Formats: sequence, C-alpha cells, structure tokens
Amino acid sequence: MSHFFLYQPKKHIMKITVIGAGNVGATTAQRLAEKELANQVVLVDVVEGLPQGKALDMFESAPVEDFDTRVIGTNSYEETKNSSVIVITAGIARKPGMSRDDLLNTNAGIVKSVTSQVVQHSPNAIIIVVSNPLDVMTYVALKVSGFDRNRVIGMAGVLDTARFRSFIAMELNVSVEDVSAFVLGGHGDSMVPLPRYTNVAGIPLTELMKKEDIDRIVTRTRNGGIEIVNYLKTGSAFYAPSSAAVQMVESIVKDKKRILPCAVYLEGEYGFSKTVVGVPVKLGKNGCEEIIQINLTEEEKSALKKSADDVSENIAKLSL
Ligand code: APR
Repeated sequence: MSHFFLYQPKKHIMKITVIGAGNVGATTAQRLAEKELANQVVLVDVVEGLPQGKALDMFESAPVEDFDTRVIGTNSYEETKNSSVIVITAGIARKPGMSRDDLLNTNAGIVKSVTSQVVQHSPNAIIIVVSNPLDVMTYVALKVSGFDRNRVIGMAGVLDTARFRSFIAMELNVSVEDVSAFVLGGHGDSMVPLPRYTNVAGIPLTELMKKEDIDRIVTRTRNGGIEIVNYLKTGSAFYAPSSAAVQMVESIVKDKKRILPCAVYLEGEYGFSKTVVGVPVKLGKNGCEEIIQINLTEEEKSALKKSADDVSENIAKLSL
C-alpha cells in the first residue's frame, strides 16, 4: 500500500540527469539539488548500488539543507526519460603521471556508450560533457548523439577561468567576486588564458600585476588540474569542476544567457572547422545560442590554433 504514496512525477517536471556517480557526478548532483535547479536529479552509474546509495544519502540531507529536489539513483536509463539537461561525467579520472589524453580510448568508449543510451530516452535534451579529455569527449558525444551542435557543450573554460580567477584573488588579496577573466582554448596544456580580457573591478589586470606575476599565474592555471591530481594521488579535482558544470546548467535552465567560455564544435568561427574549441558562448534555454567572436592578437591566435590542432589530432585517433 505504501508505494501508492510514493512521489509520482508529473508530466511537466524538470529533470536533470547526471551520468557517473563518482566524485564529479555526485558533487554535481548535490549542487544541482541544493540550488533546486530541477524537480528531479537522476544520478546514473554502472556500479550497482553506488548511485542509489549516494542519491538516497543526498536526499536525506534535504530536510536539513532545505531543498525539495528529488534525487534518484539508478543503473537504468529508463528513469532518465525526458531529461532537459544531461551532464556526462562517466569515465576514469587521472592519476599522477597521467595526462588527460591518456584517458582518450577508455573514456571515448564510455562516453560513446552512455551517450547512445541516454539520447534514446531524452531526444530533446541539452548535453554537457565533463569527462576528459574534454574537447575530444565533447566531439564524441556530439557525433554519437546526432544532436545539433548547440545542444552538446563541453565544460572546461568555466573551470579554467574559475582557477585563474581564484589565483588572481589569492595573489592580490581581493574578493573573487571582483575578478572577471577569460580562458580560451582546449582543456589541456594548450589552454589560452587571456590576461588582456581580465580585470579586477573593471581595472585591467595588467595595471595591477607585473608581467612576470601574470605569467606565473597563467602557468599555474594551465597546470591547475595536475596540481590537484598530485595532491590527491588517487583521483582528480571535483569540487571546482562540479561547480563549473552547475553554472552552465543554471544558465541554461534559467535561460540566463550568460557569456561563458565553453567547448563547442566550430564551423568556421575563429577560422576553425570540424573541431571542438573553447570559446565564449551565450548559454540559454537552447544551449549554445551564440558563439561570440572576439579579436585576438597574433600571439593569442597562434596559441588558440595550437590548442585546436591538439584536439583535431586526438579526434583523428578515434574510431567512432
Ligand atoms: N556508465 C555510467 N557510469 C560509468 C561508466 C558507464 N559506462 N563507466 C564508468 N562510470 C562511472 C564509474 O563507475 C565512476 O563511478 O563513472 C564514475 C567516475 O567517477 P570517478 O572515478 O570518481 O571520477 P571523477 O573524478 O568523477 O571524474 C570523472 O570527469 O573531470 C573528469 O577527468 C575526469 O574523466 C573524468 C570524469
């Protein structure tokens, strides 16, 4: 009898699916629930019991944290049906000594498999890819889903920018809120932080910091992921990556139209085609609603080209 009183989802409920109930996936689900960005957050993993246990534990925090988002854990895609947004975090994470590219083949297989399953149940969803190597995995999800490019977006630039902003705030001892910055390019050693487009409360960074200090922070940002991997030893970062993914989800579900650096498939923008590159985009209810093209110096252009070439090289290694 008791099951008659179980929560009965209504047709118009807003559902967000997170695939992968590991560090990044579980933390993403928690942040989505705590911000009440959906009526339901569905957490999926291949490991039996893992998403169920984490989801139940998370929902048991709801009365204390004061949120009404239902968190559901499952091993089946049936329960992801009609999701508005899907965040893909499934895959293996880096260990010390590994580059993101070392994850290429394993994670391409995983992302291919989860994408093909999830899109059958949510053909109108917007996909946010978090699995690494990010730019290539975004390409895999785009091709396997068959979705238009505005609905498959990779999370990298928001995280890289958050790291850059944190380091600047620490260095200058100012509020992170006042630091506005931009990081373009791939999520790897070839990412392109743009000090020229970075300011603190409107004051250009170049007026507040010496060039060698900016260069040091740029290098630390490029190595931001590995710095955490070297501390943790058994896995990679997840607090900041999940925050970054949730900021993208929020801009989409609230149709905020924020301008955020995201990895998207380019068809001629910035002079690149048939590859995924981190560029500023407008995120709203239709996903990537606009790719914003900013003027770059010759040096920035060649850094972005190197980044795009690295991604294309890895895409060529894939057998989809
Ligand atoms: N379907 C669903 N889940 C899967 C699949 C699959 N086919 N294959 C693996 N997973 C799950 C694992 O069972 C695990 O619970 O993905 C989860 C990954 O979690 P972690 O190992 O904790 O890794 P995490 O730190 O969350 O990173 C996940 O995000 O930032 C990137 O580089 C990172 O590629 C990595 C991904």
